[in-house]
Amino acid sequence: MSPRPAEIGAEVADAEAVVLVGGKGTRLRPLTLSAPKPMLPTAGVPFLTHLLSRLRAVGIRHVVLGTSYQAEVFAEYFGDGSDLGLELEYVVEDEPLDTAGAIRNVAGRLRERDVLVFNGDILSGVDLGALVRTHREHDADVTLHLVKVDDPSRFGCVPTDADGRVTAFLEKTDTPPVDQVNAGCYVFRREVIDTIPEGRPVSVERETFPGLLDSGARIQGHVDAAYWLDLGTPEAFVRGSRDLVRGEAPSAALPAEPGEALVLPGARVADGATVTGGSTVGTACTVADDARVDGSVLFEGARVGAGSVVENAVVGSGAIVGDGVVLRGTVVGDGAVIGSGCELLDGARVWPGAELAPGAIRFSSDC
Ligand code: GTP
Repeated sequence: MSPRPAEIGAEVADAEAVVLVGGKGTRLRPLTLSAPKPMLPTAGVPFLTHLLSRLRAVGIRHVVLGTSYQAEVFAEYFGDGSDLGLELEYVVEDEPLDTAGAIRNVAGRLRERDVLVFNGDILSGVDLGALVRTHREHDADVTLHLVKVDDPSRFGCVPTDADGRVTAFLEKTDTPPVDQVNAGCYVFRREVIDTIPEGRPVSVERETFPGLLDSGARIQGHVDAAYWLDLGTPEAFVRGSRDLVRGEAPSAALPAEPGEALVLPGARVADGATVTGGSTVGTACTVADDARVDGSVLFEGARVGAGSVVENAVVGSGAIVGDGVVLRGTVVGDGAVIGSGCELLDGARVWPGAELAPGAIRFSSDC
């Protein structure tokens, strides 16, 4: 039997959440030129909706968003949060304060003893009740969600001792001693946030956590094997979106039953076209006859021409893909026009509004 809301909420009683959403999302350009990363449409809703809905589902009510880049769009969309059953507050940075600086900057809005902090670009199924329990059982100053990854050399790694206590924060190296990395989700004891310097950029990983360790603070690790993905790159963004559509990634905000494709209201997919692999076809999109869209995301109003192949790609709002085009691992910016017969492969990125003449071939390049 699944737990009743009151029982779920009890696990995170006295906790509130801060979500960091102020980054520029440079690795996801050109998609993040028109919208901040947490607002990109992902399986039919802005990405952040998946996280906010999970917070509500575990009983958290009060959520503060630390904003900077394109700060106004969050409040315009989510308002006071009541549609999601949340009480949402927004704090805007005058200049980007980096991760810990952003946490310090919202301190005046915090009310509870334990504060859950989330990077706003992580898709995760971590058991938040268990995370908070670990924090309280060890009477920790900060508890970090840690995940084990196949290739830890791409990240700084975080070793722990037999009791789960963090022993170091190690920079990226070709030979990392452990495969545990920082998953971008923390529980902070409220007073610890007040020790972060105010009014200047501060990084949690480079400054706050190493400084806390040096001062003898208790930093606890919470290793969890649940679904986890950092949506920072175009490849990860399409993977996260298709995992959501297929129901492989956790969300309480999917606008339809999980399946092979999410075709939003007002989209038109021709009878002879196929849409598979967890693809999303946004509102007012068209996919013409004999086109094949697989594992991809079409933002609102995008058009895919007859006989085109779109695989593991993102096509921005209102972009036009001509007939007989091949897109593989490609990002097409908003309003771009891809001439018929073009082939754009292996991470090629097309800037918003660009027009590619018919027949162009590009690999791994910006256009
Ligand atoms: P890249 O530029 O592609 O690295 O993306 P990013 O700007 O989002 O940076 P990163 O992925 O390292 O950020 C991790 C999380 O912290 C994301 O949720 C960001 O939105 C957030 N973040 C990063 N810098 C800031 C900042 O200066 N202020 C606030 N409020 N949030 C930030």
